[in-house]
Amino acid sequence: MCSIKMPTNKKNLVPPTLAPFDYPDIILNSLSDAIIAVNGEDNIIFANAAAEQLLGSSFRILKRKNLDEIVPFDSQLLLLVTQARLKGAIITEYEVNIGNPNIGVVNIDVHVSPLLDENNGILIQLQNRSIAQKINKRQTHRSAARSVSGMAEMLAHEIKNPLSGIKGSAQLLSHDVSDEDRPLTNLICEEVDRICTLLDRMEVFTDHRRMTRNAINIHSVLEHVKTLAENGFGKHVEFIELYDPSLPETIGDRGALIQVFLNLLKNASEAVPTSGGKITMTTAYRQGVRMTAPGTNEKLHLPLEVCIIDNGGGISTEIKENIFDPFVTTKVGGSGFGLAIVTKIVGDIGGIIECESDVGKTIFKILLPAV
Ligand SMILES: Nc1ncnc2c1ncn2[C@@H]1O[C@H](COP(=O)(O)OP(=O)(O)O)[C@@H](O)[C@H]1O
Ligand SMILES: [Mg+2]
Repeated sequence: MCSIKMPTNKKNLVPPTLAPFDYPDIILNSLSDAIIAVNGEDNIIFANAAAEQLLGSSFRILKRKNLDEIVPFDSQLLLLVTQARLKGAIITEYEVNIGNPNIGVVNIDVHVSPLLDENNGILIQLQNRSIAQKINKRQTHRSAARSVSGMAEMLAHEIKNPLSGIKGSAQLLSHDVSDEDRPLTNLICEEVDRICTLLDRMEVFTDHRRMTRNAINIHSVLEHVKTLAENGFGKHVEFIELYDPSLPETIGDRGALIQVFLNLLKNASEAVPTSGGKITMTTAYRQGVRMTAPGTNEKLHLPLEVCIIDNGGGISTEIKENIFDPFVTTKVGGSGFGLAIVTKIVGDIGGIIECESDVGKTIFKILLPAV
């Protein structure tokens, strides 16, 4: 006979019941992001479990400290907190050093927002992975685009020059061959032209001329590409525009920006269903998004946010990690160049591109500098 020992401790039998007011604490302590709140004097008044872990200190100790005692004295976090307090706005900064002797150097993404209290309090959110990963990915995309750039340059030199010789010879031959054989020399010329067109399409990667840097009204760019889409590849789509009319101008090259948004609208149009397909184009001003320019210490301020959102089936999981790489495509006859070109241009302008995708909702978000 088998006997099962029942717990004798009554407390184990009764599931603990939680009062609703316990939940905010439980939720905050379950978050993977570290959350710290400080009062108007930067004294720590709250730290969740992830913050304790990140800072290597318990809240019991942290609550006796000031922010300037737990991060390096030159940490930008202190500056960001002051700025957020003065501006009354949310500030995001990538790769801020919040390390201390307990934990060493830690670079992390920081969102700083004013607390909705009367005491100039500030809420600090320290994010360990996601955005940093996005940036790393972005840099990888740029390097992928760069390697294609090298290849395109090589192709242009090594293929286009002999091609012009082949075409010239075929044209000369066509004078001497019989009428019966002439279609063959014509075929050679046509195919040579086709290869040249293919190489021309790759030329955007070899274009090392600096793009012009003019003040550009991004809404006029979006209007333009929307009109092109509505009259061409996006006839079946309903376009919804949600623009912030007070948006300042961005700095960039109009032609290049048109190419960016045309590619994104084309992909979105190809992704949405033939009936009920919707593409939402939004613009917004985000006070605080800043990041370090790759390879420098320069901080870029990227407050203009443009999103292209579609209600298509989403990006297929097999290519999700690599959509920004050249030659990655799921389309019959697709080139896989669209997003690689987009990434290269956005990078050259000094912006960021990010993508989130689920079935029924894909968002391409582009952050750009303002004039
Ligand atoms: N809005 C989108 N929805 C779903 N999948 C997308 C979307 N945009 C891009 N993709 C995926 O990314 C791939 C690469 O896109 P792109 O670089 O423009 O090349 P192409 O359009 O020639 O395939 C596409 O083949 C498609 O699978
Ligand atoms: Mg495409």
